[in-house]
Amino acid sequence: MSAPVQSSPGLALRCENLHRYLGQGEGRVHVLRGVSFEARSGNVTAIVGPSGCGKSTTLYLLGLLDQPDDGAIWIRGQLMSNSGDLARTAARCEHIGFVFQFHFLMQEFSALDNIMMPMRKLGRLTEEQMTGRAQALLKDVGLGDKGHRLATQLSGGEQQRVAVARALANQPAIILADEPTGNLDVKNSGLVFDLLTRLAKENGQAVVLVTHNPDIAHRCDEIKPMRDGEFVP
Ligand SMILES: Nc1ncnc2c1ncn2[C@@H]1O[C@H](COP(=O)(O)OP(=O)(O)OP(=O)(O)O)[C@@H](O)[C@H]1O
Ligand SMILES: [Mg+2]
Repeated sequence: MSAPVQSSPGLALRCENLHRYLGQGEGRVHVLRGVSFEARSGNVTAIVGPSGCGKSTTLYLLGLLDQPDDGAIWIRGQLMSNSGDLARTAARCEHIGFVFQFHFLMQEFSALDNIMMPMRKLGRLTEEQMTGRAQALLKDVGLGDKGHRLATQLSGGEQQRVAVARALANQPAIILADEPTGNLDVKNSGLVFDLLTRLAKENGQAVVLVTHNPDIAHRCDEIKPMRDGEFVP
């Protein structure tokens, strides 16, 4: 058995032997078959592998958006896989920024409001500070002039970049990004990838991203290939 608190300098996130089953009855699938992984502060890790191998499922577990059927997850040394919903939500809000594969913006809200949402939830900044920070993040992702557009008035790639900015809103220690450059052209994938790398290097954030783009994967500090629900050498 592992100890509940494991502190190791630089270790932002760790998981051990995660198993996850999805579906019901005869359709029940053993999706993750013993996933162990660690992410260090200041490092960018790419998870790669064929469609359906379990990349998004892994990221959901690491992001505390789903619960494993077996195995353990530590966020900054704190065992989270056994924690209650409140503790998991609080840890997610404070320490984790998540970029979803299909971005999931609040469609009826502006780009700025979408980015400010995690800041409002955390409740540490004034309205003015939140607006300033959201504006700066929009600029970082190349959308400085589109803050007041509703999500529905943005292109798919623009919405994806707003989703990246939203994940960075609370300056999380851990950034989990599911194909953050999937909908972007070469110029904007470069911009988003450079931004994530810069945050890792300058602020010591740990970045874990899923990508099907070999150029992006090769620019990461580490590549973790996955097959059939497991990491492989
Ligand atoms: N609710 C579900 N019931 C049964 N199987 C599911 C369910 N959700 C996902 N799966 C299966 O789990 C496996 C892993 O899915 P996951 O979304 O993690 O793949 P992925 O590696 O992210 O793929 P992609 O590159 O296409 O995004 C897939 O085979 C998928 O069909
Ligand atoms: Mg996926």
